[in-house]
Amino acid sequence: MAHLTVNGVAREVDADPATPLLWVLREQLGLTGTKYGCGIALCGACTVHLDGAAVRSCSLPLAAVEGRRVTTIEALAAGGRLSPVQQAWLDHEVPQCGYCQSGMIMAVTALLAEKPQPSDADIDAAITNICRCGTYQQVREAVHAAAAAAVKA
Ligand code: FES
Ligand code: FES
Repeated sequence: MAHLTVNGVAREVDADPATPLLWVLREQLGLTGTKYGCGIALCGACTVHLDGAAVRSCSLPLAAVEGRRVTTIEALAAGGRLSPVQQAWLDHEVPQCGYCQSGMIMAVTALLAEKPQPSDADIDAAITNICRCGTYQQVREAVHAAAAAAVKA
């Protein structure tokens, strides 16, 4: 039995310790906002936070998250209010098909927590998620908008 905290709730998971966190989240805990893309830590569709840092859950075994804190896209809108990043995504109409976007938002949220006013170079270096719809320009605009909103708040 593995023990972890997911979106603020202590969970016990009965699964093979080698099971990727992505499948624990989606299939055992019903948190399907986190997506499967490549399965080999390249695309970022499966990005969640582990103790606040962005990680690719498709390549993280359950054994590696024992006793740790996982946050998924489902927890970003606290109290029914969109997070600043989610709001910027809506305002800038970032998503196209949307498939990559929960991973993108999780990666950006972690970036802004660490670096509240990132430069374009910071964004390019940190956000290596792949978007088949090519929303990269809108992503960059929305990151700057979310950063600016945080300054005004
Ligand atoms: S599904 Fe995890 S990085 Fe692509
Ligand atoms: S919005 Fe379609 S893959 Fe990114």
